[in-house]
Amino acid sequence: MSADSSAPRVELPTDQELVLKVIPMPADCNANGDIFGGWVMAQVDLAGSVIPARHAKGRMATVAVNEFIFKQPVRVGDILSFYSSLTRIGRTSMTVKVEVYAERFRSQGQYIKVTEASLTYVAIDDQGQPRPVPKD
Ligand SMILES: CC(C)(COP(=O)(O)OP(=O)(O)OC[C@H]1O[C@@H](n2cnc3c(N)ncnc32)[C@H](O)[C@@H]1OP(=O)(O)O)[C@@H](O)C(=O)NCCC(=O)NCCS
Repeated sequence: MSADSSAPRVELPTDQELVLKVIPMPADCNANGDIFGGWVMAQVDLAGSVIPARHAKGRMATVAVNEFIFKQPVRVGDILSFYSSLTRIGRTSMTVKVEVYAERFRSQGQYIKVTEASLTYVAIDDQGQPRPVPKD
């Protein structure tokens, strides 16, 4: 049985925000013909930054990838939806969860969870040093 046919179809999260949609292209493939994990990580880093950016209101940097799980392969032509939520806000840092769901080519409307991750971002000043996250 292929990884795809055994992958459970799931509902999209209702307690997280859709922060990015993107479709991988052939240039993003690895030697297996699946999408390169580093490409997925770059998209997750961008998607994960969306909610922290609202709080940081200025420069920030990714300080940690706390967890990154590739649950299912990503394929050329998948429509990827990135959902995110804030899990922790500290003095200068913010941690988010990011979940990625794929609609396979010709199976639009059916979602497979392909990736989940946790990342931490730090608000930084003009010298690149940590600064407090504004209290709003
Ligand atoms: C981000 C950076 C400015 C933080 O500097 P630092 O001296 O480590 O800062 P601190 O030790 O004061 O930590 C700052 C915050 O980050 C958090 N943090 C630091 N290391 C962490 C880690 N490994 N995991 C999770 N959080 C971490 C701290 O808990 C602190 O959060 P808080 O203020 O909310 O409690 C510095 O590490 C840096 O410039 N890193 C490179 C960033 C970058 O280039 N990212 C892109 C990768 S290509």
